[in-house]
Amino acid sequence: ARRAALRRALLAWYDAGHRALPWRGPQHGADPYRVWLAEVMLQQTQVATAAPYFRRFVARFPTLAALAAAPEEEVLALWSGLGYYARARHLHAAAREALARHGGLPRTVAELRALPGFGPYTAGAVASIAFAVPAAAVDGNVARVLQRVFALPGSASDAAVRREVAARAEALVPPARPGDFNQALMDLGATVCTPAGPACPRCPLAARCAARAAGRVAGIPAPRRR
Ligand code: ADE
Repeated sequence: ARRAALRRALLAWYDAGHRALPWRGPQHGADPYRVWLAEVMLQQTQVATAAPYFRRFVARFPTLAALAAAPEEEVLALWSGLGYYARARHLHAAAREALARHGGLPRTVAELRALPGFGPYTAGAVASIAFAVPAAAVDGNVARVLQRVFALPGSASDAAVRREVAARAEALVPPARPGDFNQALMDLGATVCTPAGPACPRCPLAARCAARAAGRVAGIPAPRRR
């Protein structure tokens, strides 16, 4: 019951005004290729910085097949400025492998994980957003939100904390609209449940947040030891 109410509150907040991002929106639905590309770009790059790169990239490589057919140097040239070039090389290699082995991006977390560059986050994000698989997608923002909602003490980088957060995320992701649910958590962490000075009065989960109830929002996650 608590879980259902939390899901409802979060999805209602998302529906009321989620961010318009170039890989979201009705004109593209959830094109798996575009979802994947966006997730890879956003791994180390802010949304505002990644958006123009995303538009240029899909203008030149509109489909997985177009990307797979491109010479690597052209892919790297379009990536230049984003940094972390291993991402672009993995992207290109994974496009070729996915096309050869599956005829496109595969739909399960296990098959996605077998492709170059797919860690648990990217596989969960693509599976849930593009294929409506109820898989968790825990990035730094999502982990912080969940640590606070469940009042899980400790540092975000602690292995036991990460395992507990991952388990909570898997249990929480709904069978319906898992991609919207995951993106709502990402947006909440990026815009409301921020590391410093979170905007709890604007948070759709404030009434259900264990850290807030305990007055411990500022201390969860614990500041990194140094
Ligand atoms: N950061 C990474 N992926 C994202 C997504 N799909 N929506 C919002 N923020 C993100």
